[in-house]
Amino acid sequence: MRSRLVLWPLLALVLVGATVVPRQEPIRPIEPVVVTDPALVELGKQLYFDPRLSRSGFISCNSCHNLSLGGSDNLVSSIGHKWQQGPINSPTVLNSSFNIAQFWDGRAADLAEQAEGPIANPAEMAFTHELAVGVVATIPGYVAAFEQAFGPGPIDIARVTKAIAAFEETLVTPNARFDRWLLGDDAALSGEELAGYQVFRTSGCTTCHNGPAAGASSFQKMGLVEPYRTENPSQGRIAVTGEEVDRFRFKTPTLRNVELTYPYFHDGAAGTLTEAVDVMGRLQLGRRFSKKESAQVVAFLRTLTGDQPSFVLPQLPPSSDATPRPQPFD
Ligand code: HEC
Ligand code: HEC
Repeated sequence: MRSRLVLWPLLALVLVGATVVPRQEPIRPIEPVVVTDPALVELGKQLYFDPRLSRSGFISCNSCHNLSLGGSDNLVSSIGHKWQQGPINSPTVLNSSFNIAQFWDGRAADLAEQAEGPIANPAEMAFTHELAVGVVATIPGYVAAFEQAFGPGPIDIARVTKAIAAFEETLVTPNARFDRWLLGDDAALSGEELAGYQVFRTSGCTTCHNGPAAGASSFQKMGLVEPYRTENPSQGRIAVTGEEVDRFRFKTPTLRNVELTYPYFHDGAAGTLTEAVDVMGRLQLGRRFSKKESAQVVAFLRTLTGDQPSFVLPQLPPSSDATPRPQPFD
């Protein structure tokens, strides 16, 4: 009887220990996603990989947001229809569901609204929504998949972008080493990485790079302490609001998987993390990091790489005789 009385509180202690309370830090762990609508996600995955949504029949979302390259294209600016050079660096789609709004200037409210953009952008996929819907609607495999995902009713651009957005919402990257440290695993970070996080936090990087995405939660001025010089014509958030205070404000990018998503900044001007950290320290905080501090911060940033999306590559349903053919050269 007495031993039981002793055992119960012990058991309670073990149970409390099992429900981990994350360390209280400005960066929060990423939770794995729970897929509630697999048919919709599967359809969105197919559309994401389908180059027939472009005029050339050659460019898919994955061309510029390559899921084998951290959801970006690793180019200074993307290559679009007929080899056109894009105006701005392609951000990663990984963890984009955490974004306060979509695009560098936040001009799309959410992922579905965002996905309307590239299909009809003459410099990207160079199609029209009508043509894209026309292609999908002539492919019997898609007609069946849309019915399965949405029920009866015509295929329209809203359904196309809703499916793509549902797939993108699954592209989160949990289980980074930094997350394991946040959840209490002291051995998950090396001494150098932990020192890098301390520099990152105490010098003020977390005022802008915080939350589960280590960013993506606010629009911030690029060049707060010292102006940023660039040839890139983009003026940032002012394009959306027309407010002078928003000139050169950009959506603070996520730092999740940042070691994979080079080059950095909206103009893609920083080729390496070392360079990006140096620019951020000087321009945003008025700090010049020593070589050692810079190496520590870079080592910390590399611990933000999480489990990359992993799935069976989708097989796309074949075109029918009625499906419009690609126009790669006009
Ligand atoms: C030709 C290259 C290209 C193609 C194709 C393309 N994108 Fe993008 N994407 C970009 C660029 C460049 C930006 C940034 C544009 C801006 O901010 O003004 C972007 C922005 C985004 C964003 C916003 C991310 C953020 O952090 O703000 C998402 C999400 C996205 N694209 C998803 C898609 C989807 C879905 C498709 C397919 C329907 C697609 N993209 C096709 C180049 C491309
Ligand atoms: C005042 C807000 C603010 C602070 C403080 C800040 N950043 Fe940033 N960070 C931004 C913004 C905004 C951008 C995007 C700028 C652009 O593209 O022109 C950015 C971009 C970056 C990038 C490039 C990410 C990419 O995908 O292009 C890295 C890396 C980065 N910051 C690291 C840091 C580090 C390290 C610190 C601390 C030394 C820091 N930041 C401090 C707002 C901030």
